[in-house]
Amino acid sequence: MKFFIDTANLEQIKEAQDLGILDGVTTNPSLMAKEGISGYNKIMAHYKTICDIVDGDVSAEVIATDYEGMIKEGENLAALHPQIVVKIPMTKEGIKAIKYFSTKGIKTNCTLIFSAGQALLAAKAGATYVSPFVGRLDDISTNGLNLIAEIRLIFDNYGFETQILAASVRHTMHILHCAQLGADVMTGPLSAILGLLKHPLTDSGLAQFLADHAKTNK
Ligand code: G3P
Repeated sequence: MKFFIDTANLEQIKEAQDLGILDGVTTNPSLMAKEGISGYNKIMAHYKTICDIVDGDVSAEVIATDYEGMIKEGENLAALHPQIVVKIPMTKEGIKAIKYFSTKGIKTNCTLIFSAGQALLAAKAGATYVSPFVGRLDDISTNGLNLIAEIRLIFDNYGFETQILAASVRHTMHILHCAQLGADVMTGPLSAILGLLKHPLTDSGLAQFLADHAKTNK
């Protein structure tokens, strides 16, 4: 399973990249706003900086909601850097735009997926990635992980090449369950990725090893 980090924070992206396990980055307009990145030129420059830090795909979301606007914005984003994936919302216009980019060989990530039917449509339109939002479904008392399983079954039934990018991942158990269910990619915060490192028996075991070594190596 590929690991993407879901942030526009450069320090966190660098930290994950330095760990050596990062496969890409996802952003969205809220995450850009959280970092205080505003205005067309600054937003474009920020995406370019992220691409220069990481090796893999970087999702950059369109703001337009009409077909022509999405095409124009998406083409500008794709021209910015070969690692850019154009992130497009799951709407009727969005599906048309995904089909357009698919025929042009431009990678897309269909975002705001909350049902298997939406994922099926995006896959048929040729999306590179679909982003089912696990955490936001959990937020409304619906098991978000069930959606990952449903989409996996459908994509495997028909051999869709569209990758399942589990989004809105919030913690370590989401990551583990996504891996068990066969998500192709998960995107989550740095805290969830680093959380996988932790185990008290690792800490106490290492402390014991070092203490024993110190006793005989004075
Ligand atoms: O990038 C989309 C998604 O990952 C957002 O996550 O935590 O805001 O629901 P969250």
